[in-house]
Amino acid sequence: MSYLIDKLAGELRMKKVVLSYSGGLDTSVCIPLLREHYGFDSVVTVTTDVGQPDLKEAEKKGKKFSDKHYTIDAKDEFVRDYIFSAIKANGNYEGYVLGTALARPLIAKKTVEIALKEKADALAHGCTGKGNDQFRFEAVFRTTNMDVIAPMRDLNLTREEGIEYARVHDIPVSVTKAKPWSVDENLWSRSIEGGKLEDPGYVPPEEIFQWTAPLEKTLNSPTIMEIGFERGVPVALNGKRMDGVALIQRLNEIGGKHGVGRTDIIEDRILGLKARENYEHPAATILLTAHKDLEQLVLTRDEIKFKMLVDAKWAELAYHGLVDDPLFTDLSTLINKTQERVTGEVKVQLFKGNARVVARKSQKALYSKELVSFDAKMPDSKTAKEYAKFYGLQARLFKKM
Ligand code: ARG
Repeated sequence: MSYLIDKLAGELRMKKVVLSYSGGLDTSVCIPLLREHYGFDSVVTVTTDVGQPDLKEAEKKGKKFSDKHYTIDAKDEFVRDYIFSAIKANGNYEGYVLGTALARPLIAKKTVEIALKEKADALAHGCTGKGNDQFRFEAVFRTTNMDVIAPMRDLNLTREEGIEYARVHDIPVSVTKAKPWSVDENLWSRSIEGGKLEDPGYVPPEEIFQWTAPLEKTLNSPTIMEIGFERGVPVALNGKRMDGVALIQRLNEIGGKHGVGRTDIIEDRILGLKARENYEHPAATILLTAHKDLEQLVLTRDEIKFKMLVDAKWAELAYHGLVDDPLFTDLSTLINKTQERVTGEVKVQLFKGNARVVARKSQKALYSKELVSFDAKMPDSKTAKEYAKFYGLQARLFKKM
């Protein structure tokens, strides 16, 4: 009897799904699909604020089209736990400064938190079967026992079919058949893909860029920004302490006016597909350039060389969304240890698309003007003379063979 009551209650119970919602075409189309195609009675949307400018739009649509909407402000957490870690690791995958890749695990974690709170039956994301984001989301979603639903991947809709489905369901989307760009933004970078951009031989039209000015419209005189670092992370601009979010926003703004931080690359996706990607990331370019320069000043040459290997593996795991992998933690431990001395100030000149370091100083510099200067005599030049006798010894012995 009690079994039957339980069974009946189970059948009557509302089936609820929590969808990670960006407000873009794919996730917007997911809302009616989750109801009509998967039979959910309740679709809850979660938009995680990682500094994307179109947040209000996503919130408005989430509230209008879903049964319940949450917007979670994760900007500080994103900067502290993800962007700052990427700076310490000189975060770069094949030339890509890891914007989308960095934010996905955090967005997924926030979605899971809401799903647990809402006692949902399932988690959903809007990723397709070709990209990287499906893996990044699911690495986190599957830490729960909930079902994982990916309507766009299951139904394999083309972008044009998605646009049509949205039109039929009266869901406004900004993409059109003429401008089908798929854009992903957060505080650290903006990515633009899709449409004609998929042809690596196609020159991107200026309209795809929003954060950076084209070179002919950049400021006509250079700006020098002094960035203060403490333990590997930026803490001040031009001598003024600033919190991370504001500091990055400021550098995006000024760097953008100088046209700094555009990348157009062929990138190897997780599945092995080569993809053509366009990015804008002024603050990331400025901060990564400054940070690397400061490391050159304070770390030993062995640390620098070894850390390049560590950084590359770190970036690869971050790209793959494997941030809970033990190796990722191990690498981060080493990286953090090296950053204890990465404290100092770096001046970066911004002009005509370039961010160039023009000065640096640090209390921790492994630099001796006395020893290196052309103007100073060596304490004892005999030492170098004796050492020079041995230099290249093995090559000479080899030649004699
Ligand atoms: N290729 C980048 C990555 O995998 C960015 C993808 C962003 N997605 C987009 N729809 N623009 O991290």
